[in-house]
Amino acid sequence: MSQEQDKIFFRNFSLTLALIAAMMVGFYIIADIVAHEEDDTNTFENSIGADELTKPVGKSAIAGEEPKEEIAQSETVVATISNNGESVYNGLCVNCHGIAALAAMIPQAGDASAWEQRIKKGMDVLYANAINGYTGELGMMPAKGGNPNLSDDEVKAAVDYIMNLTQ
Ligand code: HEC
Repeated sequence: MSQEQDKIFFRNFSLTLALIAAMMVGFYIIADIVAHEEDDTNTFENSIGADELTKPVGKSAIAGEEPKEEIAQSETVVATISNNGESVYNGLCVNCHGIAALAAMIPQAGDASAWEQRIKKGMDVLYANAINGYTGELGMMPAKGGNPNLSDDEVKAAVDYIMNLTQ
């Protein structure tokens, strides 16, 4: 190897070292920036995380309230249901007024011809007959459909429901 070649080698080697050093500094700076960005991001995420943690807490707090609301609602629903003609009908009246095979013996909900003459008696009469019981040409309509625990309003609501099914 000549001295010239040594110089070239040394220069190239120095340049390479310098380049590596520069790259290391560069990497360090980049890493530092990235790290800080990650820090920032982390902080950001943390703050979001905290928000989101708070939100679920808020949600669970709301969720905690929701059951109360649901209870409150279900109480309302229960109140509504117990006064709801549909549920009274489906719980009781349907056993006689919702069986097509019994149409010859019992006026069936939805059978307009079976109710036509009865409706002409007036709703008050139908309510009273459903509440107090009624024996007609076909047979016996038991008082309150056979459930004395039903309130008059519940029976009336069930009659209304039958009328709705029929019209
Ligand atoms: C055990 C069977 C049975 C059940 C349960 C029953 N009904 Fe009846 N219902 C009858 C029969 C039978 C008649 C027809 C009586 C007749 O006109 O001969 C009738 C008639 C009626 C009438 C017509 C009354 C009239 O003046 O023409 C209404 C209204 C009525 N039912 C409502 C209800 C309601 C509301 C319920 C539920 C709360 C109910 N029924 C449950 C058997 C039943």
